Formats: sequence, structure tokens, C-alpha cells
Amino acid sequence: MTTLTSITIRRPDDWHLHLRDGDVLRGVLPYTARQFARAIVMPNLSPPIVSVEDARAYRQRIVDVLPHDADFTPLMTCYLTDATSPDEVERGAAEGVFTAAKLYPANATTGSAHGVTDIAHIRPVLERMERIGLPLLIHGEVTDDHVDIFDREAVFIERTLAPLLRDLPGLKVVFEHITTAEAVDFVEASASNVAATITPQHLHINRNAMLVGGMRPHFFCLPVAKREKHRLALRKAATSGSAKYFLGTDSAPHAREAKESACGCAGIFNAPFALESYATVFEEEGALDRLEAFASENGPRFYGLPLNEGTVSLLRQETQVPQVLDLCGTPIVPFHSGERLGWRLAN
Ligand code: DOR
Ligand code: ZN
Repeated sequence: MTTLTSITIRRPDDWHLHLRDGDVLRGVLPYTARQFARAIVMPNLSPPIVSVEDARAYRQRIVDVLPHDADFTPLMTCYLTDATSPDEVERGAAEGVFTAAKLYPANATTGSAHGVTDIAHIRPVLERMERIGLPLLIHGEVTDDHVDIFDREAVFIERTLAPLLRDLPGLKVVFEHITTAEAVDFVEASASNVAATITPQHLHINRNAMLVGGMRPHFFCLPVAKREKHRLALRKAATSGSAKYFLGTDSAPHAREAKESACGCAGIFNAPFALESYATVFEEEGALDRLEAFASENGPRFYGLPLNEGTVSLLRQETQVPQVLDLCGTPIVPFHSGERLGWRLAN
């Protein structure tokens, strides 16, 4: 068997990304713009992006701080609240501002305090989205105090997602950052209007990484990493060649001190070496030939967007991941901090 010394794929996109705002936005954006042609930008700012005008202004703030040589398009999303109007969502889609709308169950995660308290409250919005074909991006966890945090995704499928798709079978749904075998099974059993994104961390780590030998806050994100059997199910799904799975990093930067705290924030900043991280997994699974579909084809096909022109190359060279990065004055610890990865994105 010969060992590949490089692989070249069509330019990829990140279908789930947190860019934040202000100085942190300026610090993190170049990492994503270097790796990806487009990204679905999450709307969970404070205050959240709830209107067409909010999204237009946020998009402009992103474009304003793009490096001059970057060729990167931010795709904006609408943060759904109990008060979202169907007309606003449809107008945003028609004006080319909203590429999707995001459902955060209220208080499920970082920046979700204004999220939806009961999916029944947004029924007219969801019916409109089904009609116009606008994708619904779902943070799939229940927030019920009685449900163990490791079960919240599986319970969400039973209580919310399955009934939703029975009622609105044509709704385009991206089940975001899936973390369980149950989610894989659900996506497999659904029609082609249901897809899922998978993050690098959920392919690399299980919950031991976070809890064995001390609490490791830089491995904490939501949904939280689960048992090993779930990680293995995710790796199988991502590398299966199925068009239902695509790349979404959920890169979610928080200042080091906000994570290394008595109440540390959820979120893993994986943007700087995302492609190297995914390539490592695909190689370990003997599926490097399927990386391109996952990273560059399945997402745009699901969203009904053109595939990117151009290519990127990953070289088989060691990449030393820094312990910490300075993002315009904010120290942030990246995923794979201090590790060596076996691939390097060519400039
Ligand atoms: O870990 C997470 N961090 N999960 C989310 O859903 C939100 C994100 C963030 O915005 O920090
Ligand atoms: Zn996210």
C-alpha cells in the first residue's frame, strides 16, 4: 500500500460556525476564511440576530473585517424566538439574507436564553419554512431538569424531533452537531430532507477526555461528548459516504479564563486546524477518498447552493498546534492544543 503525500479536494465549507463579534470576530475570522469558502454563521450573539436588519448588519461587520486577500462568504441565519414572525423569516430568505433559521431550545446552551420555550409557539414559522424550503437548523437537546445531560439529545429526538417531522414531513432539517448513535439512527431512517452536521471534537473525543484525570474544560461543549460507542457511530456515519452528513465545526471560541472557571463556558475553538482534524479521522477510518463529499459536496447539495470552484490541498506534514492563540488580545485555547497533527493545509 502506498501512502498518500497529499490530498486535493474541492474547496470546503463550514456548515455550523460561531464567529462572535467585535475584537474576537476580528481575531477568529481569518482562521475560518483560510480554511473554508463559506460558512453558516450562528446567530447566538448577545443580543441575538432575530431580524433581517440584524443579520444584514452582522454580515456587513463580518465582511468589514475579512482579510483583504480572503475569498469567503458568510451565510446568515435567523435566531428563532417565541415571537419570530413567519413574514420576517420569509422576507429574509427572499432578500437573500437568511440561508437558514436556527432553533435553540431556550436555555439549552450558550446564548440560548432568548430561544424557543415550546416548539408549538413557532408552528406558523415552521409551516412557512416548510413551504418555502428554508432549512431549520436544530440544537437538539431537551432542557428538562429531570433529564440527565448525557440523555438530552436522545430524549429530544423522541419528544420533539420525531413528532415535528411527522407533522411537517417536508421541512428541511439539519440536526446540528450530532453526538449519539440514536441521532445517527434517526437521520438514517429519515427521508432526504433530514441531514446532520458532525464536529471534529465529537469524532475525536468521548466524555473521558473531559473527565478522566481531572476536569478538562477545553473539551467541554454542548451537546457534551458522550460514551465511546457514540463516538464510533459518528465516525462510521461521517465516513460512510452518505450524503446526509456534512462538515460543521461548531467552532465556538471563548476566552481561556471564561472556560477555566468555576462555571466554564461550553464551546470548543476548532477553526484553526479543522480540516487537518477531520482529515486525521478520515485517514484513521481508511476513508480519505470520502472526505471531499463530507467537506465540500453534501452540504451545498442539501442547501441547494452551488459547489465551490477551486481546490485546497492537505499535505502529509506535521502540524504543531499551539497551546494557546492570541485573538486580538483575547487568549483562546484551540482544539488539539499542544498536539501534533499529521496533516497541514497548504497555503
Ligand atoms: O458548546 C457550545 N458552544 N454549544 C453551543 O450550542 C453553543 C456554543 C457557543 O456559542 O459557545
Ligand atoms: Zn453551535
